Formats: sequence, structure tokens, C-alpha cells
Amino acid sequence: MKKKVIAYNRVEKPVLEALQKKYDTRFFKNIDTKNDSDFLDHLSETEGIIGLELVVDHDLLKRAPHLKIVSNVSVGYNNLDIEQLSKRNILATNTPDVLTDTVADTVFSLLIAAARRIPELDQFVKNGDWITEAIEPEHFGVDVHHKTLGIIGMGRIGQAIAQRAHFGFDMDILYHSRTRKPDVEKKFDATYFGLDELLRTSDFICLITPLTPETTGLIGKREFQLMKNSAIFINGSRGKTIVEQDLIDALKSSELAAAGLDVFEKEPVDSDNPLLGMKNVVTTPHIGSSTHETELKMSELAAENLEAGLNGKRPPNLINPTVWTEK
Ligand code: NAP
Ligand code: GLV
Repeated sequence: MKKKVIAYNRVEKPVLEALQKKYDTRFFKNIDTKNDSDFLDHLSETEGIIGLELVVDHDLLKRAPHLKIVSNVSVGYNNLDIEQLSKRNILATNTPDVLTDTVADTVFSLLIAAARRIPELDQFVKNGDWITEAIEPEHFGVDVHHKTLGIIGMGRIGQAIAQRAHFGFDMDILYHSRTRKPDVEKKFDATYFGLDELLRTSDFICLITPLTPETTGLIGKREFQLMKNSAIFINGSRGKTIVEQDLIDALKSSELAAAGLDVFEKEPVDSDNPLLGMKNVVTTPHIGSSTHETELKMSELAAENLEAGLNGKRPPNLINPTVWTEK
């Protein structure tokens, strides 16, 4: 009998089709995983899960007694209860590296778009306003090049952002992470700052940490107040690493000049979220890694992880290595 697999939300078509040939694979998208009977039936015999943003917690695990591996098609894994998975000797994997440059491109494009007001001015042209209104200083943006960029979370993606900023835009790089990184400091002429000092000093601030208990609400009212009034804030991490209402308040009271957001506290974002009505906020729908090339690479890597776990091999991107015992 073929092993049962659940594919959830996003697995690129060729990868999904290949899995369907080898395993009894069912694809589910945006369902109520607590109540969908088809899903729960399949889950009760499933050995592997591959996909995006499936919340794997104690409740789900109780209903998955045969599960061997959960393979995220993402580098972030805040959807997984790693402690519960490890307790049950279930492997957990993610897809680092293959998406790093693509996410850095997204973050940088939000930064440039916010600084140069690209979406707002695009609308200005398309609305025909340029025909009746002269271009005045109120339409001007601010320079990106030669400014100071503060990166919070100098990991893989943070370093790829630094690469673009330092070599492409001659920016001064400040960073804050849990640990100092002498090699990164050398490569990008970057300076390690405490969080508060970074917030006070930077012209642009990019937040790109994982979502953990320590980073939940990391940037809130106090932190927005520390930023320069002219600062532009970019969030590419997760919506909950900031206090969204405090960002809204900071933008409303002009304590902050602009923001670029790929992630939101609630996704999809509510249509009445005040951020959506602000001209100085540039948004994208959590598509940091979503290019055709990179999504395919992520699905392929996630499938490699999944198949290793299903077949008793060590997956290349194991998040909870303590579970692994050499066979
Ligand atoms: P990574 O290589 O693990 O880097 C994470 C960095 O965050 C590390 O430098 C880490 O510091 C730092 N960090 C962790 N906790 C911190 C804290 N409490 N305070 C300050 N810094 C902290 O991960 P990555 O591959 O760069 O990915 C980072 C995150 O980006 C993912 O977890 C995900 O949430 C997000 N992401 C979003 C998208 C999107 O579509 N928007 C796409 C991909 C990833 P140390 O190095 O000192 O440990
Ligand atoms: C996407 O958000 C990821 O974590 O890969």
C-alpha cells in the first residue's frame, strides 16, 4: 500500500504530481483543519505532511498517530509546535537558502518603493492627475543610496539585504541580532548596535527575524517612538513581530515617514485595516519568496525533505535534530 501524504496550501504542480505518483497524496487548500472530515480521515493515516502554513499543534498531532515528518514549504516555522513534534519523535523541516535572494529582493523593492513613493505616483499618473497637476516638491521622495540601513535579524536574508544595500547602494549598515557576526561586519563594513541605538540612528529599518516568543511584538509603540520621524520601516518577517496598531498610530501621528509591509498581523489582511488607506504604506500579500523560480525550488527542497523522512533517511533541513537517531 502507498504511504499517505497530505499536501497543504502550496506545493508547485510538477512536485505535487511527482509525489502523487509515489504516495497516496491528497492536496488540501485553506480548509478548516479542525473540522474538515476528508482532511481528518486522511490525517489519521498520514505519514507525511508537506505544505505552507498548516498549524501543526497538539490538537492536530493527536489526530495523526502515524505521522513521521512535517515538511514546511517555507523557511519560517512558527506554524509548527516543535516541542510537541519532538516529544512524538516527528521530524520537522523547512526550506532555507533557496529563497534567501528572492526575499531580499522583495524587502529591497518595498524599501525603494516606499522611499520613492512608487505605488502612489503610479496611481497619480494612471489617474490622469499629471495632466492637470504640476510636479512639485510634495511629490518628491527621499534618496536610498548613501543612507543608513538598520537590519534587525542578520541571518541569511538579513545578510542578503546587506549585500544589496552595501554594494549596490553604498549604504551604511547597522545590524542587530542575538549574536555579533565579525565576518558579516567585515564583509559589509557593518556595525553591531543595540536595538534602541539602531532604531534611533537608522534612516531605513528592515525587520527580518523569525517569529518566536522573544520576537513577538518586538517593535511596538516605544520602538516606533525611538525611530527618526523621517524613518522608513520595512517588515518582511511576520506580522506579529510588530504591534500593528502601534505602527498605525506612529504613521498617523507622523512619528514615522512610511512603511513597506509584506506581512500582517492577520493574513489575508482585513479590507478595513487602516494601513490599506495610507498612501505612505506600500503593501504586498506575503509574497517574499514568491517567484516562479523560487517557489519551485522551495517545493522541490520540501519534497526532498519529506521523502527522506518518509523513507528513514535524515532530511537535509532538519529543524529538530534531537529527534534523529542514526539507523
Ligand atoms: P535565519 O538565517 O535563521 O536568520 C534569522 C536572524 O534573526 C538571525 O540572525 C537571528 O540572530 C535573528 N534573531 C532571532 N531572534 C532574534 C531576536 N530575538 N532579536 C534579534 N535578532 C534575532 O533566517 P532567515 O532565513 O534569514 O529567515 C528569517 C525570517 O524571515 C524567517 O524566519 C521568516 O519569518 C521570514 N521570512 C519571510 C518571508 C516572506 O515571504 N515575507 C520569506 C522568508 C522568510 P542570530 O543569528 O544571532 O541567531
Ligand atoms: C515565508 O514566509 C517563509 O518563511 O519562507
